[in-house]
Amino acid sequence: MYKAVIIYDSRKGQTESIARIIEQGLRDGGVEVLLKKATSATAKDLRDADAVVLGSPTYHGEMMSSLRTLLFEMEKADLRGKVGAAFGSYGWSGEAVPRMSETMKHVFGMNVVEPGLNVLERQSDLNKCREFGRTIAERAGQGRK
Ligand SMILES: Cc1cc2nc3c(=O)[nH]c(=O)nc-3n(C[C@H](O)[C@H](O)[C@H](O)COP(=O)(O)O)c2cc1C
Repeated sequence: MYKAVIIYDSRKGQTESIARIIEQGLRDGGVEVLLKKATSATAKDLRDADAVVLGSPTYHGEMMSSLRTLLFEMEKADLRGKVGAAFGSYGWSGEAVPRMSETMKHVFGMNVVEPGLNVLERQSDLNKCREFGRTIAERAGQGRK
């Protein structure tokens, strides 16, 4: 069975809700999922994962600091070729999702699902979020063929 880890942070709960729907989509796609808040995640959580899914809302034009810290922590894991994906809730500019995707692609050489899932606040489309999870599951399966 393929494994995915979803690591996210959220101040008001919107990105957290999206994380839970993506989790369902991944499970629909037959993937085992570990869901963790970025404040308690470490490089160890990434070791067995075929796919790493990062979630952060955008605040002041940036991802949350817990995700920035995690991206430095991720340097300790060998992630080359693993599937990566990013998602998050935003109000008007939504920088966090492209930044996380770019870092996974350029720094870690991951196989990134693009574009990431940038969701306008209070407008999360359940089907879209679930579909994003299924897309990540499919990509994880292809990587192992
Ligand atoms: C102080 C503050 C700053 C924000 N800065 C941005 C921003 O720079 N760009 C943006 O797109 N949204 C911004 N937002 C909107 C949040 O991204 C949005 O409310 C999001 O849904 C919060 O997600 P969460 O519930 O997961 O914390 C800001 C919100 C607050 C309260």
